[in-house]
Amino acid sequence: MTSSRLNLIQESATLAIAKLAADLKQEGRDVITLSLGEPDFDTPDYICESAIDAIRRGETHYTPSAGIAQLREAIAKKLHTDNGLDVTPDQVLVTPGAKQAVFVAVQAVLGEGDEAILLDPSWVTYDACIRYAGGRTVWAQTDHDFMPPDIKDYVTAKTKLIIINSPGNPTGAVFDKKYLEDIAEIAIDNEIVVLADEIYEKIIYGKKHFSIGSFEGMHDHVITINGFSKAYAMTGWRLGYMAAPAEITRAALKLHSHSVSHATSFVQHAGITALSPDHGSIDAMVNEFKARRDILVGGLQSMGFDCRKPDGAFYLFLDVGDYGGGDYVSKRLLNDAYIAVTPGSAFGPESSDFIRISYAASRERIYDALERIETTISATG
Ligand SMILES: Cc1ncc(COP(=O)(O)O)c(C=O)c1O
Repeated sequence: MTSSRLNLIQESATLAIAKLAADLKQEGRDVITLSLGEPDFDTPDYICESAIDAIRRGETHYTPSAGIAQLREAIAKKLHTDNGLDVTPDQVLVTPGAKQAVFVAVQAVLGEGDEAILLDPSWVTYDACIRYAGGRTVWAQTDHDFMPPDIKDYVTAKTKLIIINSPGNPTGAVFDKKYLEDIAEIAIDNEIVVLADEIYEKIIYGKKHFSIGSFEGMHDHVITINGFSKAYAMTGWRLGYMAAPAEITRAALKLHSHSVSHATSFVQHAGITALSPDHGSIDAMVNEFKARRDILVGGLQSMGFDCRKPDGAFYLFLDVGDYGGGDYVSKRLLNDAYIAVTPGSAFGPESSDFIRISYAASRERIYDALERIETTISATG
């Protein structure tokens, strides 16, 4: 009874783990959730206030499908100032969450049989979007530091898209400029579109973030995705955007207008406030994430794990190949230690030795988790 195209897609692994963890919590277990991709901070007050003001002003009606003009202008300005991109408000499409932007962008570019290059590991949703478009994912294995390989080796006459995400989910890796320049050159030479998902751009520890869309000659080749969920702790508000060459934005808008219509009206107004000077909330959040990262990495290293320090986002991708692999270890951690993490197999075919640990949890919970990991995993190795 269901569509064959949807049979190509699995349920999101992160949401499936969240459901299992919720079931255990329901049974009264003290579950430590290290599987979610969301900051555990509340949305800053001044952003909440601006949404409430917008509701009171009556900003509760339909808006233009692509988003209200003031927000699209604010986004174009942000992309210019922060990222060095040269886009007009018309090239911006505001969506309910960056996830929706990724979905419509991929559908806008890929057709039946087209190939998209995806780094292994990558965030779960990209592969699902590619499959739904009728495309084929060509996995490109990252190196020991989760940096991209030579992408040229994966390009064929059918390649239409390369997806990159830096700082990245699930590894926290931040790509150096040199890697991005290599990808840019390949995209220009082969007429390939690059989708750059920059949602973790602000959650970065000391390294510099580069936007590939700002590189010479890339203006007509890049779809930049970003959103408000991570930097402003606005996951539940559902607000994100894409900026792309006008032809791609127009194509994505067709699907967007016939599906979700537009992002919630008063949430768009809160988005304008979020993009104004940020009152220091991002710095405070990033400093806290950094402290948690250091606790987690230090604790795991002292247990003997070969653990690289991630430079961004709030994830650690840990090699547990010596302990039975990612699927086994994540099940064991959930059932024996009541810790929810995500198995690496969700992120790519060659990542099954890993688990993804999200450190968007309090320091206290991270210390608890380290103790439980030590007793369940390393003690029995
Ligand atoms: C890499 C990446 N892109 C996009 C998203 C989607 O974010 P949003 O909440 O804006 O849909 C996520 C969320 O986990 C993510 O990890």
